[in-house]
Amino acid sequence: MPNKLLLLAAENERMRALVSRSSLTRGIVRRFVAGEEDREVVAVARRLAGVGLQVTIDLLGEGTTALAQAEATRDTYLALLWSLHAADLAATAEVSLKVSALGGSLPGDGYGHALRLTRDVCAAAAAVGSSVTIDMEDHTTVDATLTLLGELRAEFPCVGVALQACLRRTAADCRRLAHAGSRVRLVKGAYAEPASVAYVRKRQVDDEFRRCLRILMEGQGYPMVATHDPKLIEHTLHLARLGGRSVEDFEFQMLYGIRENEQLRLASGGNRMRVYLPYGRDWYAYFMRRLAEKPTNLLLLARSFTPG
Ligand code: FDA
Repeated sequence: MPNKLLLLAAENERMRALVSRSSLTRGIVRRFVAGEEDREVVAVARRLAGVGLQVTIDLLGEGTTALAQAEATRDTYLALLWSLHAADLAATAEVSLKVSALGGSLPGDGYGHALRLTRDVCAAAAAVGSSVTIDMEDHTTVDATLTLLGELRAEFPCVGVALQACLRRTAADCRRLAHAGSRVRLVKGAYAEPASVAYVRKRQVDDEFRRCLRILMEGQGYPMVATHDPKLIEHTLHLARLGGRSVEDFEFQMLYGIRENEQLRLASGGNRMRVYLPYGRDWYAYFMRRLAEKPTNLLLLARSFTPG
């Protein structure tokens, strides 16, 4: 399970200042983050396409506190989509976004702003032949995110969403979203959640992932299986064989910089493999969540602060 102290540090402003400003951390950050500018992430997407990997690109940033900031995020997504189109990558590169980054947590009509701005991104994605998947944030946001998904899908049927196996509600959400045309990315869940709403032991989360995976793989939608866990990857391939799902009817997803050999192995075996490619200046919280998932990553960070 993610390390709770590191998850707390992901929210801590002093830690953010220390880690973000240190030039020493650049190397390790670059392992997980594709760069700060459009041209850098497009170059990485092109390199990955060259070795048979598709991508979903995420503009980092989740602490949006003003409408202008949310609109700037929308504009950056629009520019990115046109850059992907210009680079002839739009068919294999989609974008991932967080509702909070597009204004979802603003006071007043945050939901309305997020709906309007996300719709603009979906329209641009449709115009260039790409698509959008909505990330899932902590459990307090799930209802609003799924309502937003429903509204967007009426206009843009291929918009996808992430569901987190750690949440007690997720099996029911999977059942509701396992219909034809639906795209669901199943993840374990990266947020520290209370036991009242979430399974907190790793074993329980893994069991729940299997249960949700089965629902999605037996359903009519398009499952996006987002895990680095070797047992769950094998189990996915087993369920696909069992249910006669072809390699075009589901895909694997992994994070940039994690288990890269496995990404290449799955792709060269004929599977669809999509890499979640984050970029942007606001990389701190994302980076800390990756450290929290694998405490040995912390050694890499500690070493980057050690001279010599
Ligand atoms: P688990 O954490 O058990 O890891 C299995 C193995 O993978 C580890 O033993 C290790 O070898 C390797 N590994 C995993 N994480 C690593 C790391 N950080 N560094 C090095 N090795 C690592 N979460 C969320 O709450 N909302 C979301 O929208 C998304 N979106 C999303 C998209 C995609 C494409 C992926 C792959 C993941 C997410 N996540 C997410 C994150 C997800 O919830 C989860 O925290 C991570 O994927 C880690 O869980 P695993 O399933 O890999 O299993």
